Amino acid sequence: MPQCAPPLSHLKAVPNHTVTVRTDLLREGEVPVPYPGKFKDAWDDMSVKMPCSEKNLFPLETEDGGGVQSRWELIHSALQGGFKSSLDVRDAILRYNTAHAKKWDFTALNLLCTECLEHCEVQHLYEAVLPSMVTLALSAPRLCTMPIPLLKSRMNHSLTMSQEQIACLLANAFFCTFPRRNSRKSEYCNYPEINFYRLFEGSSPRKIEKLKTLFCYFRRVSQTRPKGLVTFTRQTVNTLPNWENCQTQLTRLHITCEGTIEADGYGMLQVDFANRFVGGGVTGNGLVQEEIRFIINPELIVSRLFTEALEQNECLIITGAEQYSRYSGYAETYKWDQCYKDETPRDDWQRRCTEIVAIDALKYRHFLEQFLPEKMTRELNKAYCGFFRNNANKKHLSAIATGNWGCGAFGGYTRLKALIQLMAAAEAGRDMAYFTFGDASLMRDVYDMHTFLTERQVTVGRLYGLLNQYSSLVCKNCRSTRPDVSLYDFIYRSLPPVTADALDSAKDSGISHDSH
Ligand code: APR
Repeated sequence: MPQCAPPLSHLKAVPNHTVTVRTDLLREGEVPVPYPGKFKDAWDDMSVKMPCSEKNLFPLETEDGGGVQSRWELIHSALQGGFKSSLDVRDAILRYNTAHAKKWDFTALNLLCTECLEHCEVQHLYEAVLPSMVTLALSAPRLCTMPIPLLKSRMNHSLTMSQEQIACLLANAFFCTFPRRNSRKSEYCNYPEINFYRLFEGSSPRKIEKLKTLFCYFRRVSQTRPKGLVTFTRQTVNTLPNWENCQTQLTRLHITCEGTIEADGYGMLQVDFANRFVGGGVTGNGLVQEEIRFIINPELIVSRLFTEALEQNECLIITGAEQYSRYSGYAETYKWDQCYKDETPRDDWQRRCTEIVAIDALKYRHFLEQFLPEKMTRELNKAYCGFFRNNANKKHLSAIATGNWGCGAFGGYTRLKALIQLMAAAEAGRDMAYFTFGDASLMRDVYDMHTFLTERQVTVGRLYGLLNQYSSLVCKNCRSTRPDVSLYDFIYRSLPPVTADALDSAKDSGISHDSH
């Protein structure tokens, strides 16, 4: 993308695509105009409950014990008091979150402001950044006028918003203004957390670095109003391949142990190694692949406001999320580095040509569990659901930029997951770029296996059969924690030697691959 993209239809709202801006006024280089012109409230179970809704009421602790007041007014007065210290931020937030006054901890925010920033940076935070975040948050009635549909399980629905509307929503998330989102028991128990209160707690350096990354974003969108759109699509795939009968052969593979998906996956479908609650621990302690992607492209975080937990055959596709920060390290060693100017070209809908798909792998406690047929089939279906595009001509399908999906926090086996993703990519008609994240031996093993299978023109169905044979012959009666024959050795031994003409036709069919 954008070279291989199909011509983009004219942006307009249809039943399964909510658009929250004026499409007739969409101009390159101009800030999109919110639609409708006036705030339309929808305090119901189909839409996001907005903090500025007049139904967002706050019980009054008056002597006569009765009465309620608009929480939005309370938020207004709490946030407009200005901030001279991080304790002022805490006090403001707790003014309209009294139920949690005792529980919420702002240690990380205090540490950032008192120990980790230069004095001038802290002053700039209090005098410029935080006040502009307040202005942004309080502009919700003017900016976010369209009810935001909840992307519920099993829905196929898209939502296109402006980056400015997203910034406003994220500023509200920072100040923890979204109602009904602070207790796990509310109607939103099947949604990710959106209010940022857990980001402020504790004293781990992770939190400091995450806050630095997010303040970099808020500083940027306050200084320069962002001018693009972002589309969030919940995709549910109901017709899944019958894997054992698939006749397709593997597509092309580029595999490398250098680089990362976000830095080197330009123009490709970039995989987010997700949690079924999209964003995982991004507003908490998490700081591996998904959380890092969500804080360097913070517009991704707003998907947590409206995306219900993903089912087995569902994924979330986000097109247009901009990168605002550069980072170094990973997990414990993650460090915000500096602001990043994203030069990715925009498409006709003014979206950065960055397509990210959130697919959640299964978490395995025991190594052998992932070889159970139903587990392998579930992962094949999940990956396929993320890679598949309905009614798409193959020539318009970009390659998939992926890596060790499900093989870090979720304990998967890289060499199995690599085959699973290759099979799903083949069925979806897409090539693959695989980043092994520094693992050179994995790069060689997968490259060699891909070559071996391609030369023999092994079909996805045949490979599916081999995986199941491995499962029943090797794993099923395996006594120890790891199988005594590796998956790839089993496959090498199970397939006949390649014949010369098979080699020739493999070459003729233009199947090629390279690796470095
Ligand atoms: N590019 C390419 N590969 C990467 C990158 C990157 N930017 N970052 C990490 N990797 C590789 C690493 O080898 C890592 O061990 O991907 C592996 C898996 O990454 P994880 O984030 O651990 O993914 P997973 O095992 O699927 O766990 C998902 O972690 O981030 C949370 O919310 C997420 O709960 C979910 C869980």
